[in-house]
Amino acid sequence: MAANDKKEQLAVLQDQMERCTSCPLRQGCKAPVGWYGNPDSPILFIGEAPGGVEDDYGCPLIGPSGQLLDKALWSVQMTRDRVLTSNIVKCRPKGNRTPDLAEADFCAKIWLTREIAIVQPKVIVALGSVAMHYLGNPSMRITHQRGQWFKTRGGIDCIATFHPSYLLRQYGHAQVQAKWDVFHDLQAARAKAQEAVPDYNFCSAAPVDLFRLFPKR
Ligand code: URA
Repeated sequence: MAANDKKEQLAVLQDQMERCTSCPLRQGCKAPVGWYGNPDSPILFIGEAPGGVEDDYGCPLIGPSGQLLDKALWSVQMTRDRVLTSNIVKCRPKGNRTPDLAEADFCAKIWLTREIAIVQPKVIVALGSVAMHYLGNPSMRITHQRGQWFKTRGGIDCIATFHPSYLLRQYGHAQVQAKWDVFHDLQAARAKAQEAVPDYNFCSAAPVDLFRLFPKR
C-alpha cells in the first residue's frame, strides 16, 4: 500500500477511534491516544497504554517512558518520526494502572488489529509484558523471553524487550544490565527490519521534540 493511502486510512481509523465508547476505560481518560510516526516504517513499537502525560498531549510514549525510549532509539540510529509507535490499549486506565488481559485484548482486537492491517509492519517490538502477552501469549515471561523472536498470530516477526518504565524503576547494576539488553534487542529489531526494507532510512538528523508537535489538549 502506498504511504499516502496508509496515512489516509490511519486518519479515518483515528477518527473512528476517537469516538470509541466501547469499554469503561473511556470514561476515566481525556480521550483515546493513537499512534505517532511514519506509517511506512517497517518497524512498529507497541507499548502498553497511555499514561497521564500521553492522555494530556494525545501522543503515545511522550512522557518519561517515551523520553527514555527516544534516547534508546537514538543509540541505535532511529528517531521517532521515522518509526511508528503505538499502544495495546488506547485509553489511559485510571490512576495509570496496568490494563488487565481482558482490557488489553478487547481494545487491541478493535483498534490495534486494524492499525497493523493498514501499516503492515515487517517487525514489531513489544515494549513490556502487556504487549508481549497480547502479541505472543499470556504464558510468556518478559525476563525469560525478551530478545527472542516469535511470530504474532498474524505472522509478523516480533521481539519483546523491557518497557522503558521498567528501566526507570531499576537501580545500579540491574538498570545498566537491563539497558544493555534493550540496546541489543533494538539493534536486532532494526537489523531485521533493514533486511526486509534495505533502503529505508530509520533516522532523521536529530531526535524529535514531540512536545512541539503535540499541544496540550
Ligand atoms: N507507557 C506506554 O506503554 N505507553 C505510553 O504511551 C506511555 C507510557
